[in-house]
Amino acid sequence: MSDKISYSCHGDIAILTVQNPPVNALSQPVRQGLWDGMDRAEAEQGIRAIMIVGEGRAFFAGADITEFGKPPLKPHLPDLINRIESSPLLIVASMHGVSLGGGLEVALGCHYRIAVPTACVGLPEVHLGLLPGAGGTQRLPRLAGVIAALELMTTGRHVDAEEGHKLGIIDKIQDGDPNLNGIAYTQKLLDQNTPRRPVSDMPAPEKINWDEAFEKALKSGRGQISPAWCVRAVQASVEKPFEEGLEAERQIFYDLMQTEQRQGMIHAFFSQRAVSNLPELKGITPRPLKNIALIGGGTMGAGIATSALLSGLNVTVLEMNKHATQAAFDRIENNLSGAKKRGKIDSQQYEKIVNHSLKLVTDYGKLSDMDLVIEAVFEEMAVKKRVFEELDRICKPGTILASNTSYLDINEIAASTSRPADVLGLHFFSPAHVMKLLEVVVADATAPDVAATGFALGKTLGKISVRAGVCDGFIGNRILSTYRAAADHMILDGASPFEIDKALEEFGFAMGPFAVADLAGLDISWAVRKRKEAEGLDPRTRDACYADKLCEDGHFGQKTGKGYYDYTAGAKSRLPNPDVMPLIEAERQEKAIKPRKFGDTEIVRRYLAAMVNEAAKVVGEGIARRPLDVDMTLLFGYGFPRHWGGPLKWADIVGLEGLLRDIECYAQEDPYFWQTAPLLKRLVAEGRVFDDLNKAN
Ligand code: CAA
Repeated sequence: MSDKISYSCHGDIAILTVQNPPVNALSQPVRQGLWDGMDRAEAEQGIRAIMIVGEGRAFFAGADITEFGKPPLKPHLPDLINRIESSPLLIVASMHGVSLGGGLEVALGCHYRIAVPTACVGLPEVHLGLLPGAGGTQRLPRLAGVIAALELMTTGRHVDAEEGHKLGIIDKIQDGDPNLNGIAYTQKLLDQNTPRRPVSDMPAPEKINWDEAFEKALKSGRGQISPAWCVRAVQASVEKPFEEGLEAERQIFYDLMQTEQRQGMIHAFFSQRAVSNLPELKGITPRPLKNIALIGGGTMGAGIATSALLSGLNVTVLEMNKHATQAAFDRIENNLSGAKKRGKIDSQQYEKIVNHSLKLVTDYGKLSDMDLVIEAVFEEMAVKKRVFEELDRICKPGTILASNTSYLDINEIAASTSRPADVLGLHFFSPAHVMKLLEVVVADATAPDVAATGFALGKTLGKISVRAGVCDGFIGNRILSTYRAAADHMILDGASPFEIDKALEEFGFAMGPFAVADLAGLDISWAVRKRKEAEGLDPRTRDACYADKLCEDGHFGQKTGKGYYDYTAGAKSRLPNPDVMPLIEAERQEKAIKPRKFGDTEIVRRYLAAMVNEAAKVVGEGIARRPLDVDMTLLFGYGFPRHWGGPLKWADIVGLEGLLRDIECYAQEDPYFWQTAPLLKRLVAEGRVFDDLNKAN
């Protein structure tokens, strides 16, 4: 028997204990070990029941995802689960930690299920571009009903033991050691002569309107297809005998396994875990982090403060005067109340945070003892430098000084202090207590333990932290500037902002770039454009000015009620602002441009080509260490559709050669903008893809 499963007996119960750290994934040796364990128990004299239990953190976290995309190895999980279910012995699962995907499917193949109160279950396969492929779509509806089963599968959400019990997934909840609980429960079932209870023998569940459910899942998947296919598999559980239902599920599972979406989502799964795992930080101890300060309690500062407070840190916010202090407090309090309403904290935690963990001050002297100070003041170099000079004067040696700048040069900011090794960028995304991304900007002189502390902070705050080097806009905003420019060029040449938003939302972005700009505030991009103009634009730059006119008229997007869209009927009801097209048309006339039509495909292709080309430069220049760093930045900060894995994974999937050809073709119209990234050319010449560089690092 494989060393992943240990076999022991307790009276007439055989115990199969899974030992496959860290999370008991159902790899081939685990499946084989379970199979052999079943054989052995069934062959052994006097054994009447088998109890399956996991060691360590989990029952099972599901199929071994690293095996996906490779030739499947026997025994296959569905066969193993059918074998477990059809055993003549009584089979019990004793669950703790997570039982996810194939892990829950193993439990559903058992005849009874007991769990500790902290256990949770779920079928998260949709997050990998798949559906439950080992009987989950056939067994769960029989236990929990079609509606509940579909909700679990299409959202992939984890369900706690109590809810699992209510849904009929878990038969009994009991606190204590899963092994002892499992034995006692199995013994009781045997003592009471409880019969085997295969879920497949249960009656087929209720019918629903399948086409309607399919369309609904397709729509809410925003381009992702696997949730909709869960509906068809569950339909089979109702309309077909169990065996045929299993076959239908299997077929859909294999079809989904072949899709680009499965590749993209599995890339996202592993990259999300690899992104904060930097070889250069291995073995480096971060500095202690308990007391942190925010300079500035505006939207961004208040958001960062909220995030830190919700994560258990003590936060001091410095503002200029009493009035500003009160405004900062109100913002933070409002964020915390929202967190309380959503159940993230209870009333007691809320009171503790507001009364003990949060302080508001107006005097720099109060910051002398901080572990970390994050500056979130007005985006202007002179203002930032003044803040850093003051912090340098006040703060104890070892305090980390961070800037939340979105674009400015951290090296220049660091040089304004006597301790550049203690300075780094911590670029949060607004609203900072909600958005998952944190760019940890490592400047030339930043000490390794300071960078490590940036990542430690990200972990404490539950963020996805990405290492970025110094350049205008770091990883995310630099790439954003380029693809936004590509969108503006299409507008000058004949597309409308509304056509562009529609095409990109259909591709899978949560919001198109113009709707996003309205949300972020047009004044922000206006300020960036003015700064760049003041620094001097290259005369070859194609610049679109129509948006400046919107700003000059006081239209900054959602916050003023109008931007590219009109929000007078509410933030959610966006209608094209009728003033926008005349401004665009006037600019086209002024520039003697004859507008042409752009189809959705061309819009998406040009937009993503610009994104990929700039991303390849960012990787080539070492601003991002690996392509996956760019992918995670765009996924968690810019709404890139997860089912494509990120722009560079998308590029690998659609083919680098064709993309390079298109970029070279666009360059004939505008050679200055479409300068091909040397890395892209090199990869095509060498017949390699971006993902090869992830593996190499
Ligand atoms: N297969 C292989 N490796 C896995 C894995 C899996 N199913 N689940 C987790 N891991 C690995 C992670 O990659 C990570 O590896 P590194 O340490 O090398 O980075 C390690 O286990 C620990 O994982 P996390 O860092 O994510 O730890 P966590 O405590 O934050 O979360 C978890 C644990 C909740 C189990 C989370 O890892 C998770 O959600 N895993 C995926 C669960 C899943 O999707 N299961 C369904 C699989 S598909 C399936 O089962 C198909 C089917 O129907 C047959």
